Amino acid sequence: MSYKIAVVVGSIRKESFNRKLAQALQKMAPQGAQFELLRIDDLPLYNQDEDANQAPQVKRLKEQVAGSQGVIFITPEYNRSIPGVLKNAIDHASRPYGQSAWAGKPAGVIGMSVGAIGTALAQKDLRTVLAYLDMPTLGQPEVYLQAKDGFFAADGSIAEGSRDFIQKWLDAYLAFVAEHAGRVETV
Ligand code: FNR
Repeated sequence: MSYKIAVVVGSIRKESFNRKLAQALQKMAPQGAQFELLRIDDLPLYNQDEDANQAPQVKRLKEQVAGSQGVIFITPEYNRSIPGVLKNAIDHASRPYGQSAWAGKPAGVIGMSVGAIGTALAQKDLRTVLAYLDMPTLGQPEVYLQAKDGFFAADGSIAEGSRDFIQKWLDAYLAFVAEHAGRVETV
């Protein structure tokens, strides 16, 4: 069975470590798992007045999520929580009420920040949001990454010290998606 996995990165800066991590994961994906990095930098600020008339960028995001069998969130920590750009994207695709694109999609959470706790508090907040959105979320293994020189190899892949650990997380996440495959509705 082949899976399409939507990947949402919680940083929109050009040199984002988390974007690099997303690109490295994309290359580590086994055959049959297709990773699609979703664009969130062009979304307007969420405004409930627009629920009945969502912007084309919002419709695109919702279609991409709806067409996936799972969603990986890769996020830095901002002020001990998730970045506003990520929350904005999550809020957009959760609306109008009752028409959330997220519901039922198995989620994976991973992240990298410069601080020693490696996004632990951002991930904790994100898990609360995902639980409310009815997204079953992989519990173990957890991955908290601190951005350090040498984490990425020159070709953008994950350097040897961490590669096996990240591969184990990816394998566990894809097995989790497979477990949920029969229950996930795609459109
Ligand atoms: C940060 N950073 C940060 N790091 C951390 O470990 N815990 C935190 O609470 C914060 N808070 C925070 C707030 C804001 C507004 C910024 C801009 C940054 C630092 C953050 O880890 C660093 O900028 C990362 O490089 C962000 O990830 P990307 O953009 O490289 O993916």
